[in-house]
Amino acid sequence: MMERTCAILKPDAVNRGLVGEVIRRFENKGLKIVGMKMERLETKKLEEHYAHHKDKPFFKGLVKYMASIPCIVIALEGVEAVEVVRRMVGATSGRKADMGSIRGDYSMSHQQNLIHASGSREEAEKELKRFFKDGELHNYP
Ligand code: CMP
Repeated sequence: MMERTCAILKPDAVNRGLVGEVIRRFENKGLKIVGMKMERLETKKLEEHYAHHKDKPFFKGLVKYMASIPCIVIALEGVEAVEVVRRMVGATSGRKADMGSIRGDYSMSHQQNLIHASGSREEAEKELKRFFKDGELHNYP
């Protein structure tokens, strides 16, 4: 089924100059970019985005880190895009993620793991609404 999913290139991806590399992988794979922007994410939005982690000891640090510099927010479209992008991103820890995945190839960290990707179709829908305004997502042939 045709789906849309949300990816966020985190501050470490921006700082390390890996934005192009990650986008290149999505393009090469055949995913369609239907939205993309650089944004300094607001604390409030991030607290909402990571609400399921709010009782974890790393919650505050995570939100602060994500708000520290602008991120790149991307909407990707394709058949089964949610699962495909999750597999391309790899497991949470860069040390455990499979080689060949984005985190497996470029991260040695559990927190600074380069990229967020929606975990399910329901999450994707919520996140696309949270991070993109009307008119920022595109339909084109
Ligand atoms: P992600 O899986 O995209 O969403 C939750 C994020 O929290 C995760 O990426 C990491 O960036 C961060 N995270 C998860 N577990 C830890 C941890 N134990 N310590 C610090 N940060 C973490």
